[in-house]
Amino acid sequence: MSATQRKRALVFDSGVGGLSVLDAIVNAGLAVDLDYVADNAWLPYGEKPDAALVARVPALIRALVDEWAPDAVVIACNTASTIALDAVRAAIAAPVVGVVPPIKPAAEATKTGVIGLLATPATVARPYTDELIAKFAADKTVIRFGSTALVDAAERVLAGGEVNREAVAEALHGLFDAPGGDRLDVVALACTHFPLLRDALAIAAPRPVLWLDSGAAIARRLKDVLALGDGSARLRRAAFTGPVNARLWLAFEARGFSVRARIEAGFSVVPDTGERYG
Ligand code: DGL
Repeated sequence: MSATQRKRALVFDSGVGGLSVLDAIVNAGLAVDLDYVADNAWLPYGEKPDAALVARVPALIRALVDEWAPDAVVIACNTASTIALDAVRAAIAAPVVGVVPPIKPAAEATKTGVIGLLATPATVARPYTDELIAKFAADKTVIRFGSTALVDAAERVLAGGEVNREAVAEALHGLFDAPGGDRLDVVALACTHFPLLRDALAIAAPRPVLWLDSGAAIARRLKDVLALGDGSARLRRAAFTGPVNARLWLAFEARGFSVRARIEAGFSVVPDTGERYG
């Protein structure tokens, strides 16, 4: 395939969580160009009212699609996908790949019949999540725990900080010390920030369990939607609604992003030299 025929996807999240999905797409060995957008001025999505997200997310993505004309958009955020996927699809012509909490694979993988669902406070409480559980895990015990502290912890780690051990311990307590938690053997990571903390969670957990996320499934779906061939992903532009300090930008540069953009009020996209944030 020649360079001009390569397809381009836009990966979207509230912050750095979408990087766990982006990493899975890169690891899948697909010939695709990837741009990224983080609505980090609005972090954390898990604490925002549903109506506010349904109004904002499609408008923001629409503006980026107008600007960058991707062939597909990946909503690499469970909190946005479980409430605003239909609205995003209605707002743009390009195909949209959403992320679904990995309840089905967790239900298939458990041997004890007890699975954990670790997500944002919004996602654990959504009717969409209830429906997934009713459909795929009706005969399982599902222990839900919502954590915004872990979202914040992942953001800090990507910006070069230490892991927040209290946030990790609190989440593990919420899962393993809940009724039935002594038999829990699979945890569905249903927030894209959390695979970025997988090692910290696994090391601090009271015993080895399976930590599942949706990254590889999204990569497969993107491959199908864009009919992608094998090859290497190329990363280029990342746009942010809020400040990005130099340490955080390093995490993007380390992955191969070279162009930083700022999304201003009204969602206009302008180049960002990074001078404002140090
Ligand atoms: N990464 C997001 C998710 O998958 C949301 C984190 C947040 O902004 O609360 O749910």
